Amino acid sequence: MATLDDDDDFVPRRRTQLMGPAAQARALAEATAKLAARRQRDALPHRIETARLVLRAPIRGDVPDLVKLADNKAIAEKLSRLPHPYTRADGIGFVEIIAQRPDERPYAITLDDQFVGVVGFTFHEGQPPELGYWLGEPYWGRGIMSEAVKGLIEAAFATRLFPRLKARALVSNDGSRNVLTKAGFIHMGEGPGPTGTNMGKPVVFYELEQPKWS
Ligand SMILES: CC(C)(COP(=O)(O)OP(=O)(O)OC[C@H]1O[C@@H](n2cnc3c(N)ncnc32)[C@H](O)[C@@H]1OP(=O)(O)O)[C@@H](O)C(=O)NCCC(=O)NCCS
Repeated sequence: MATLDDDDDFVPRRRTQLMGPAAQARALAEATAKLAARRQRDALPHRIETARLVLRAPIRGDVPDLVKLADNKAIAEKLSRLPHPYTRADGIGFVEIIAQRPDERPYAITLDDQFVGVVGFTFHEGQPPELGYWLGEPYWGRGIMSEAVKGLIEAAFATRLFPRLKARALVSNDGSRNVLTKAGFIHMGEGPGPTGTNMGKPVVFYELEQPKWS
């Protein structure tokens, strides 16, 4: 007798059987890439503590502070994919959809239990995880992002899964470039950025290799 499980299994199998061989190969490659990204994502800890900060998964309760801090042109103009203006729907979409994707591992940065910004990785197939971050403007200039980035990098290297990490910043973004070089990232070159809210402005590419002794 067919069980629910058999049926669940049967539907996707029938769908792929209707595809041509090239489409089947593409679907398989996509599924494999998703699985690989999820494995990398899930190897990272759920919670990272540093001297002053706790990094943890974003939660629905962060949305009011997230929206208040992210709705800032001075932040959006430095990032390729932060909507501006930033609405409550964007905040909910970030917590409920983007943060759940297998190729994303964002952490809410909290200071004294207060949401102050975001730091995390995006996983691209066959490439090192890409570091990204932003901090609410009232908290700038106190070493918070340097501390958050250091905590996340140490956690990533502790998994032994990522021999290299990458990052990029607008050529004009001195603050972010300082955060990266302080963390040990090496300047790898410059080029046009992705089209997004920054519309291809020039960016600097950085990489950080796991120290051999760590
Ligand atoms: C860039 C950003 C994350 C920096 O966060 P922060 O917590 O203020 O950074 P830190 O205090 O850890 O500063 C790190 C270093 O950069 C320097 N720095 C910080 N902001 C700077 C700025 N605007 N211009 C020049 N140097 C700056 C600091 O003096 C510090 O160097 P020091 O230790 O030698 O004094 C924050 O300004 C931000 O979120 N900006 C908008 C979004 C953004 O740019 N995201 C990154 C996209 S690639």
